[in-house]
Amino acid sequence: MPGPYADKEIVLGITGSIAAYKACELASRLVEGGATVRAVLTGAAQEFVGAASLEGITGNPAITSMFGQATNPEIEHIAVARWADLFLLAPASANLIAKAAQGIADDWLTTSLLATRAPLLFAPAMNMHMYAHPATQANIATLTERGAHFVGPDSGALACGDVGPGRLIDPAAILERVRVLLNPVHPLAGKRVLITSGANHEPVDPVRFIGNRSSGKMGRALALEALRQGAEVTVVTGPHEAPLPRDAQSIHVETAAEMLEAVEARWNDTDIFIAAAAVADYRVDRPMAEKHKRDGSVLTLTLVPNPDIARHVGLKKRADQISVGFAAETHDAVRNATDKLSRKNFDLVVANEVGVAESGFGTDTNKAWLVAPGMEAEELPLMTKDALAVRIFARILTAVTASPDPSPVHGASR
Ligand code: CTP
Repeated sequence: MPGPYADKEIVLGITGSIAAYKACELASRLVEGGATVRAVLTGAAQEFVGAASLEGITGNPAITSMFGQATNPEIEHIAVARWADLFLLAPASANLIAKAAQGIADDWLTTSLLATRAPLLFAPAMNMHMYAHPATQANIATLTERGAHFVGPDSGALACGDVGPGRLIDPAAILERVRVLLNPVHPLAGKRVLITSGANHEPVDPVRFIGNRSSGKMGRALALEALRQGAEVTVVTGPHEAPLPRDAQSIHVETAAEMLEAVEARWNDTDIFIAAAAVADYRVDRPMAEKHKRDGSVLTLTLVPNPDIARHVGLKKRADQISVGFAAETHDAVRNATDKLSRKNFDLVVANEVGVAESGFGTDTNKAWLVAPGMEAEELPLMTKDALAVRIFARILTAVTASPDPSPVHGASR
């Protein structure tokens, strides 16, 4: 039986990391699965793993420098860039990610990354502070927007003694993504996914607003995963930091009322709704028409409740529509999520802990439970928002495929 990578040509780019030795396992499993593998080692990678090992495993010469072996290196890197079905960068250092994002071509690997049209899959490995650094996050966002793929990193104890996200994800997870990228299946093809994301700004006067800390990172991760699964994606987004994927349709709003209007306008054409926005619960009753002048006296604002967007559409949900919500809780996450499940007629609630380290607003990771009607809550380990999006869609897919006519109202109070 042909292996999962039969007849595929893969460039395995390896950078300097303590995890570089795992590239040997990756190369060996790819070859076993039928791929032809060309290993490329940066200068730093060669301090951690030997080119000879990779040559032995792949049966092909490893590329270690721009002007080393080939008779015509200029042509060779173009030829390999054209030949490849996939570039797998594992482990991918912060430096490689930065160079790829900026289009720097100063060695064989980065030069061929510019020349190739093949999909790029980065498996980052670095110190958690390097991973969390805004420069690295901006570079990942740039590459993602351009269509590059990322798998991991994992969270855990790092070689430097820190504990957090930055560890090369398990080779099995990398190989699974390689398999999917080489043999794309689009289980959500033809499905329309509508996501609310980001914060709301509720005006006080023409220059001031009341807002919240939502970064939009979870909404972005969900949009990317939905696109990967072949869905048509619309994101109704309030103000946010995280850039949205180019392939999603983005509708920009400020207030909760505008968000509700945009969701309502698309509701009938929606198959899967995900309420990831941190909707402002209140707005200023009568925003001032002119800028308020500071006169030293106490200023009292009257706040009135905003509409509950998820509940509003949840209560008119058709049997063929799926609605997913979040419950940001500081305590009793599962109990509060169960309450929201029925109050807002959700099919799934992602309960996440806010106010604890590495989880909630603005962070890259989340500690969450998946809560669905009639099932015991599934506790997930601390994971990146990208990984959480994958888990959420795995659940959604089960619901989509289990029944073309998903179960109707779950005890919603009307
Ligand atoms: N939500 C919404 N419209 C609102 C408030 C919340 O659509 N006005 C959605 C959120 O996007 C999220 C879910 O409802 O998916 C739960 O949001 P959360 O802020 O946790 O709950 P609240 O309903 O505001 O309840 P509470 O503040 O009492 O926890």
